[in-house]
Amino acid sequence: MSLDIRAVAYGTPDYEAAVALRRAILRTPLGLDFSAEDLAREAADTHLAAFNDGRLVGTVVMTPYAPGKVKLRQMAVSEDMRGRNVGAQLVAFFEDYARHNGINEIVLAARQTAQAFYARLGYATDDVVFTEVTIPHVRMWKTL
Ligand SMILES: CC(C)(COP(=O)(O)OP(=O)(O)OC[C@H]1O[C@@H](n2cnc3c(N)ncnc32)[C@H](O)[C@@H]1OP(=O)(O)O)[C@@H](O)C(=O)NCCC(=O)NCCS
Repeated sequence: MSLDIRAVAYGTPDYEAAVALRRAILRTPLGLDFSAEDLAREAADTHLAAFNDGRLVGTVVMTPYAPGKVKLRQMAVSEDMRGRNVGAQLVAFFEDYARHNGINEIVLAARQTAQAFYARLGYATDDVVFTEVTIPHVRMWKTL
């Protein structure tokens, strides 16, 4: 595996490939889709993507949240590439990128099914469960 992680620009074919992966993993299984407004709002976000031999296999979105803080959202890794450290490398890249941009805290709403993944990477939680996109989530955060 030769993994290349980089930022992809909003509106480019790489961005569209990232949206397609997020739709397939994070929305379609729930009977949901992104609205035009959801995607229009993403123009202000940073889109990171992992490529394996040129194929986009993982992605995550960084959204400005508050001064010095960003939200990590829309984390998705292709099913056939899971358990091979792609997600962990994407989060590490996200954290480095945030640090270089003066960010000192990352917050996220983690699906409960992914809570242990983020906990392994040093994210804390208050374990308060809430519903987003019809499924249970917990708030998590990490100080950089
Ligand atoms: C959650 C997700 C991004 C993890 O990506 P991944 O590439 O499979 O994760 P990695 O291989 O980098 O795993 C890193 C570590 O976390 C562990 N881990 C990964 N997913 C886990 C999970 N769901 N629960 C518990 N541990 C998990 C791995 O075993 C590994 O542990 P190790 O360091 O001891 O070997 C991926 O499973 C995914 O896309 N899931 C569906 C979408 C989703 O839930 N996104 C998150 C929304 S908040």
